[in-house]
Parts: sequence; C-alpha cells; structure tokens
Amino acid sequence: MSRTKVVDALKSSEYGKQITVKGWVRTRRGNKNVGFIALNDGSTIKNLQIVVDFAKISEDNIKDVTTGACICAVGTLAQSQGAGQTVELQAESIEVYGKADVNEYPLQKKGHTMEYLRDIAHLRPRTNTFGAVLRLRHNMAYAIHTFFHNKGYYYFHTPLITASDCEGAGQMFQVTTLNLDNIPKTKEGKVDYSKDFFGKPTSLTVSGQLEGELAATALGAIYTFGPTFRAENSNTPRHLAEFWMIEPEIAFMDKTELMDLEEEFVKYCVKWALDNCYDDLEFLNNMIDKGLIERLKAVSNTTFKRLPYTDGIKILEEAVKNGKKFEYPVYWGCDLASEHERYLVEEHFKTPVIMTDYPKEIKAFYMKQNADGKTVQGTDVLFPQIGEIIGGSVREESYDKLLARITELNIPMKDMTWYLDTRKYGSCPHAGFGLGFERLMLFVTGMQNIRDVIPFPRTPNNAEF
Ligand code: 4AD
Ligand code: MG
Repeated sequence: MSRTKVVDALKSSEYGKQITVKGWVRTRRGNKNVGFIALNDGSTIKNLQIVVDFAKISEDNIKDVTTGACICAVGTLAQSQGAGQTVELQAESIEVYGKADVNEYPLQKKGHTMEYLRDIAHLRPRTNTFGAVLRLRHNMAYAIHTFFHNKGYYYFHTPLITASDCEGAGQMFQVTTLNLDNIPKTKEGKVDYSKDFFGKPTSLTVSGQLEGELAATALGAIYTFGPTFRAENSNTPRHLAEFWMIEPEIAFMDKTELMDLEEEFVKYCVKWALDNCYDDLEFLNNMIDKGLIERLKAVSNTTFKRLPYTDGIKILEEAVKNGKKFEYPVYWGCDLASEHERYLVEEHFKTPVIMTDYPKEIKAFYMKQNADGKTVQGTDVLFPQIGEIIGGSVREESYDKLLARITELNIPMKDMTWYLDTRKYGSCPHAGFGLGFERLMLFVTGMQNIRDVIPFPRTPNNAEF
C-alpha cells in the first residue's frame, strides 16, 4: 500500500480507511493494555498518534519502537478520543525499519540546549525545533524565487571562485592547489602563483554583485541566490563564515525605487511565512520566542522609516546626551554598531529603518556618490532583533567617478577592467542590494543564534559535518 504522509493523514476524515504511514518515533507511552506512539515524518510539525492495542499486537512485537526508531505502521484512521488531535491511527501491524538504542540515542530527552544540539547537528533536524526551522528555510527560498520570478527578474548564477574582492574588506578565503608545505617561489622570493591552478591568486566570493551588475546591464533585472563566504573572525550570533545571499540588481532603478523594492521584498517573505507556515511559526512562538508572530505581523503591516545617516547620528547623539549608554562612541562618520542600529529600530522608531546616504569612507567603492562629495547612496535595511538585514545601494554609473574612487582606494585595477567596461560601454543608472538569507531566517523563526538557522554552520574553528 502506498504511503500516506502524516500531514495528509491528520487532515483526513476518512475514518475506517486503511493507510500506511512511515516515520520516526518521537515518544512512546501507554499502560499494560495499550501503547501510544507519536510518529513524525517531517511533513509537518505535528505527530500522528498511533494506538496499539496489546490484545491485537503483542507488546513484545513493539519492544524496539522507542524514541528515534524508524517504523512503518499499517492501520485504520479513527476519530481520536484524546485531547490535541482529531485523527489517530489504530495499528494493525508495525514493522521496525531501524532501531535506536535507548541507551545511546542522543535525542532522548526533551528540552536539549541549542549548544548541545549544535554538537549533534547531524541529528538535530529530527527535533521539533529544527524541523520547523528547516521547513521555514525551504519556504523562504521558494518565496524568494517566486517574488523575483513574478517581477520578471532572471535568476543569474555568479561564480563562487573569484579573483576580485567585491566589498574590499579583505575577508576572503583563499582557494589554492599549491602544496602549502612546499610553496613554489619566484626569483624575488614571492609565492609563484603562475604555478597555482588558475595561474593567479583566487578566493571564495564575498558577493555576486559585480557579476550581477554585468547581467543587469544586459537582461534588465536579475537576482542571485547562492553561497557567500567571509573570513571575518567575528564570533557573534549574527555572523557565519559561509552564508547564503540574495542579490537583485536592476537597471534604471533609482534610490526611492530601490527602497520600495527592499521593503516590498522583505514584507513579502514575512507574509509568506505567516500565510504558509503557520503551524511551524506557532510552535516556535510557543517554544522559542513568545513575541514572534506578533512581530512578524507588525513588520508586514508597517511602513519602514526612511532615514538619512546624518539624521540617524543626530538622534543617537541626542540619546547619549539624555543618558543613553552605548559601548561604542557615536559621531558623524562612525560605522554604526548593532547596538546603535537596534536603538533606532527598537527604541526610537519601533519600526524597521531604511538608512540612507552614508559617509563614503564606511561604504564600498561602487556606491553612487552624492553631490555633497561626502556621502554615498547606500540603502541598508535595519530590523528589530537583527540589526542590518539588507545592504544595498545605487551604483556609481559614471566611469570617471568610479575610476577615481578605485584609484583613491588603491583597488588593484588589473582585476577590475571587466567591471569598468559596464561603465565604459552603454553605462546606465542601476541599483541593487544583498539580503543575508540567514539573517532573514533569524527574524522569521525567532531563533537567537545564526548557527541554528542553517543546517551545518561554518564559523571560526568549526567546520564539522
Ligand atoms: O552589506 P553587505 O556586505 O553587502 C554586500 O555584500 C553587497 N555586495 C550587497 C549588494 O548590494 N548586492 O552584505 C549584505 C548582507 C548583509 O546585510 C547581511 O544581511 C548579510 O549580507 N551578511 C552576513 N550574513 C551572515 N554572516 C555574515 N558574515 C554576513 N555578512 C553579511
Ligand atoms: Mg553591509
């Protein structure tokens, strides 16, 4: 008999129908007459209750049906007498596919700490919390593709191995096939990269933006969605060394349209979660973060505050004058710390903020320069709990201004000619942004640590699994 998924069995009202279910045992309880098995197969956060009448199936027959075991159960659907469910399965036969030794299976107890679960990341998808997170992760990816596809943006694949540092922050992981125990040297005593796989130094990408711009200035509007790597040694709950980024890039878009897009996009994702993943959100709301659903609803219904950096600094300086204590100093020109961003978002405005027009010194070389000569048209989105969730900007489309900035910042020109050609031939105004997928996941799940919203986190000193 073909298998029925738990999600479908729970929705069914075909009482008396015989079905087959397969999945993993969450708990087993009961008395000497009857056993109750809670079965989960990943199709929903909810378990199907299987009732085993020991007059029909001997208790000995199900001695291996313990927490973590994988089973196949055939039985009839029945209306449930128990609280908390409408449907249950009255078992006719149970086969154990795979045992899970009660003395060894690491997920026996409920309520393990997140730290403990990180150490067994190969098994944590079997917990309720990670099941919910992973189903939401899939749904967010699907929502993102749907959003851009519906707008006519093309999914564009950018290389993971690259020779250019898009953000200019020098946080790249080098890629090499050279033997590090016996590095070939030039006459001058430098590493001889002509002997390396690509004949020059290469790294894992920190952003697909530069290649994305090439595509946007041909296809009109594109987005990337792929792995991104940063060797920043920041052990925070919001940084990963390997994360996923979504980077739309759009020709003929100005700053206001860019902010509109950023706002529409994140609201769409949040609303998608509310509309399609309510069971999982409800679970996370109860178990992880009591304010989660309320916060998601609030964000999908509010208008984001648009705030020039200079005005933001004034608000923060005013707060300091009135006694607010920050760890890092506030002054015009400072790179905002997460405590500053969160003050503006959570305490001052109580809405997400799109901050614009940053000092050029704290932003990347490609941002469009304003007429004041001091600021650039960045448009970062700051979120409650998270801080920066999106980094975006209008791009400098003038060949001369861009080249001047590249020279000023000493960016190696030989790596950038292909990029400058977008400004040399048929240059156009354009803009784009990058959304950190796991930052979105943090917001949507209410999880507290970015290591817990990606299946296998990569952070300093950790590349397990
Ligand atoms: O602000 P960032 O560095 O911007 C860029 O990379 C641009 N090239 C994007 C663009 O305009 N196309 O990074 C964008 C976003 C951040 O706002 C943050 O959400 C996320 O990427 N991010 C990280 N997420 C997890 N771990 C890290 N180490 C991250 N660094 C950035
Ligand atoms: Mg940024």
